[in-house]
Amino acid sequence: MSPRQTRILLVEDNDTLRRATARALAERFGPVDSEARGDDACARLRDAEVEPYDVVITDLRLPGTSGLDVVREARGRSERSAILLTTAFGSIETAVEAMRLGAFDFLQKPVELPELEVRVERALEHAKLVRRVATLEAERENHASGPTIIGESPAFRAAVDLATRVAATRSTVLVTGETGTGKELVASLVHAHSKRAEGPFVKVNCAALPETLLESELFGHERGAFTSADRQRIGRFEQADGGTLFMDEVGDMSPATQAKLLRVMQDQEFHRLGGTRPLRTDVRIVAATNRDLPAAIAEGAFREDLYFRLNVIGIQLPPLRERPEDLAALSQHFLAEIGRELGRPREGFAEEALAFIRSHTWPGNVRELRNVIERAVLLSGGPEVGVADLVLTGAHAERGWRPDLPAGGLPWDEIERAVLTEALSRTGWVQKDAAALLGMSRRRLNYVVRRLGITHSSWRRNRGEDP
Ligand SMILES: Nc1ncnc2c1ncn2[C@@H]1O[C@H](COP(=O)(O)OP(=O)(O)OP(=O)(O)O)[C@@H](O)[C@H]1O
Ligand SMILES: [Mg+2]
Repeated sequence: MSPRQTRILLVEDNDTLRRATARALAERFGPVDSEARGDDACARLRDAEVEPYDVVITDLRLPGTSGLDVVREARGRSERSAILLTTAFGSIETAVEAMRLGAFDFLQKPVELPELEVRVERALEHAKLVRRVATLEAERENHASGPTIIGESPAFRAAVDLATRVAATRSTVLVTGETGTGKELVASLVHAHSKRAEGPFVKVNCAALPETLLESELFGHERGAFTSADRQRIGRFEQADGGTLFMDEVGDMSPATQAKLLRVMQDQEFHRLGGTRPLRTDVRIVAATNRDLPAAIAEGAFREDLYFRLNVIGIQLPPLRERPEDLAALSQHFLAEIGRELGRPREGFAEEALAFIRSHTWPGNVRELRNVIERAVLLSGGPEVGVADLVLTGAHAERGWRPDLPAGGLPWDEIERAVLTEALSRTGWVQKDAAALLGMSRRRLNYVVRRLGITHSSWRRNRGEDP
């Protein structure tokens, strides 16, 4: 987590006092937000767009609503905020009540500024410790057993079991699957279960860089190798020595880089750009792509020989829509995980919320599910996530279409058949075009066509394929 500014909210109805205190605190701790009314403060704390505060300082007697409500609201919003209550009408009972609601400290008015600063400092120290403990615990968990992977569906389980079994070998692994299906997670699982687990896990995204930069990223370069190379650079292959190199989006490499990578894998050695000395490293490659590499090979966009080198062990991750039995467990897992991260614990999902999760097809797969739940945790006020809190966002939302499912259900095969037949007849029974119209792969469309026994006279006999 990058260091960030301390965020303080000050709630005080006395204008002079509020301005003076805010100014003094701002000088020492950075920007301070302030509110004069209790209800306004609560509204601000409820606003999902506003990041949780590190420190909330509130008066007890306030117009709008009581300071105790502000304490309650701040606590509900984030477990991490330190809450200080100030009051001129302090009584032991109120203090106890405030502490019970989760206040960190209690100050009797008039509060001297130096005293307030000391208390804020102490609250911040405490908050930092709490965060540190949470991070350490999470790290220890991850390290001991590899990443947490949820999913009991047979198709997904088979992929994870394979990943665990091949982890101990040195074989190259190719993880394939649609966007967001967990390719990177499985790659880190392979590393965590290997004998290299203590070594580095180095990532390189092959799609993010133009050809020349990618080569120097992978293999490094010597000083003066090209105009801007003002010093030597150690590439990812060298950084990953003794560990695992995760080559993400490997299907997006240019032909030249593909050729180079193939040579490195064959010769087991490489050169830094502009270097003459051959280098060797002990690296295990795990590659991933969401492309259909056999199709890319057929189109001449990917080298078949490189594919065979990478695909020594192929692990295919099924899309989420093909394993609906994993939806509930994944949703609960993310709810708990995100609740912890954001300091907003949530108990569970309302029944309609779960029904909605089951009804969506999740084109963005597990990543999309996680994003939707993260947003829901921010939007929901109560302990339970409701269906209104689940908002589909981004590209998938625009494409998303929510059918009005009748209570009695629908005959799925009939719908599929109707949609497919319509798409095919609109595209002159050319499967490739119909698939494009429906946003599915040609292979998948062809599979459904065969399953439903749809045929057309223009297709070759027995094969169910168009010419
Ligand atoms: N089975 C799972 N259990 C727990 N978390 C998961 C699981 N699958 C995916 N995730 C989480 O979902 C998110 C997306 O997963 P990941 O980044 O591994 O997908 P990806 O296939 O690499 O996606 P992309 O193709 O977009 O790069 C991550 O936050 C990951 O931790
Ligand atoms: Mg990825």
